[in-house]
Amino acid sequence: MKKTAIGVFDSGYGGLTILKEIVKQLPQYDYIYLGDNARAPYGPRSFETVYQYTLQSVEWFFNQGCELVILACNTASAKALRNIQQKDLPKLEAYKRVLGVIRPSTEIIGNFTKTGSIGILGTTGTVVSESYPIEIHKFFPEIKVYQQACPMWVPIIENGEFNNPGADYFVKKYLDELLAQSADIDTILLACTHYPLLMDKIKQHLPTDIEVVSQGEIVALSLAQWLENHPDMNKLYSKSGSIQFFTTDSADDFDNHASQFFGKEVKSEHIFL
Ligand code: DGL
Repeated sequence: MKKTAIGVFDSGYGGLTILKEIVKQLPQYDYIYLGDNARAPYGPRSFETVYQYTLQSVEWFFNQGCELVILACNTASAKALRNIQQKDLPKLEAYKRVLGVIRPSTEIIGNFTKTGSIGILGTTGTVVSESYPIEIHKFFPEIKVYQQACPMWVPIIENGEFNNPGADYFVKKYLDELLAQSADIDTILLACTHYPLLMDKIKQHLPTDIEVVSQGEIVALSLAQWLENHPDMNKLYSKSGSIQFFTTDSADDFDNHASQFFGKEVKSEHIFL
């Protein structure tokens, strides 16, 4: 059987913050990244729409020969992953796998807090799905989980305004709304793969004793562990250290913005889904 690349998917640029850490941990594999920029943001869209968009993207990866796809997008992981894993994958070849970013984060986030109170910042879709409180309580039943949707953050980031003074208003607004829910929150998880771009501003507007956790390294370490635990799957993935980038919108726009998320220049190709 021909060995193939690992697929990494996001609605736009955010998944590049995850891919960057995955490549750091696992540089030997080949990767294909797809950003569905033409239809981003996914955050405000309905369950059915996010599911359809994500399924189409996963099918595109499978058509490229990928056998493992990482949904490096919380909104897609919250709204589409379960359906894809339970309804769609069984109809496809048994060795195809789709993994998300919520499970790796919820498995360990409880280890960060001393007060037992965690704040989750995510898109409206992720927050409304309740995926984080449900999943965290499976691993840490005693922990209190407070959520805040930040619907303006992805548009600010996708439009390259994250370092500008205009961003401060919305960063402060959502942090204040989260902290107003409980004075005990000592750990905040950035449960959207775009949000690490706002890390500096987020820290500026928070008390220094609150720890802010982003997902890149967590997801990368969890993938490394998964590959080690699944040698039969691991041997299906090619290892020549290449990365290809694809976007559903303008490749020039993608290349102009992507380096801020990925930390390196990228050269993408346009595809239609
Ligand atoms: N980066 C995606 C996430 O982690 C969401 C961005 C969007 O709203 O499209 O949820």
